[in-house]
Amino acid sequence: MGRTPNDFVDFVITSPPYDDVRNYNGYSFQFEEIAQALYRVMKPGGVVIWVVADATINGSETGTSFRQALYFKKIGFRIHDTMIYYKNNPMPQTGNRYHQHFEYMFAFSKGKPKTFHPISETTKYRGLANMKNRGKSGSLDYEKVERTKEKKVGNVFGYSVGGGISTKDKIAYNHPAIFPEKLVIDQMETWTNKNDLVYDPFMGSGTTAKVAHLLKRQWIGSEISQEYIEIAVRRLEENGGKID
Ligand SMILES: C[S@@+](CC[C@H](N)C(=O)[O-])C[C@H]1O[C@@H](n2cnc3c(N)ncnc32)[C@H](O)[C@@H]1O
Repeated sequence: MGRTPNDFVDFVITSPPYDDVRNYNGYSFQFEEIAQALYRVMKPGGVVIWVVADATINGSETGTSFRQALYFKKIGFRIHDTMIYYKNNPMPQTGNRYHQHFEYMFAFSKGKPKTFHPISETTKYRGLANMKNRGKSGSLDYEKVERTKEKKVGNVFGYSVGGGISTKDKIAYNHPAIFPEKLVIDQMETWTNKNDLVYDPFMGSGTTAKVAHLLKRQWIGSEISQEYIEIAVRRLEENGGKID
């Protein structure tokens, strides 16, 4: 990111390595430095989708997600929306906690988001409307109506995860923590337009790059592990893209 100009990137979607939950070949990252660099490289109105959850250490959730969100705010981002990535089929948990069904999906924006194409759904509603005529007794008769209308979806997004579901690309499963592709599609379509520049600072198996390629966005990415870069390269090639 150090080589990326200021105000350059339209959209980031990423999932950082958090709380040392997994040991990605021993690499670590400097959260504050990276958050500040993200602020610098984002265009005004650009949006960062930061997908993160807490580990439980010594019986307590770490609070890392909240601390990171507040740090992003401190350095100038807006916490535009705290969305939830709901896992339809989470890993079962033992002990005295409910199953961990979700991760946070923070939307941080550099000023007011410049692009928003909300996902909508068709809803049916029934009700009484339109006074039709007066009944003999003078009471009011209302027409029973059934209508459909489009409305924005809520900010909890459910996805099924796991082998063969998160992606059809077999090679991606050589990485331990891949995004479900549909999550990236939904967020990228919401916050970007064709040809926008998308960046993933923790690219892993290259899900962001693949989706950007298929949705005709431009993309750049960073990944520290050579092993994962090779996975991303092959995955891109299998999907008609390439990495320079
Ligand atoms: C949660 S994974 C990302 C997975 C990705 N979203 C996907 O769909 O495959 C986090 C990635 O960050 C990488 N990473 C860790 N420290 C890094 C650093 N300092 N710079 C760049 N990448 C780093 C890890 O190697 C790992 O692949």
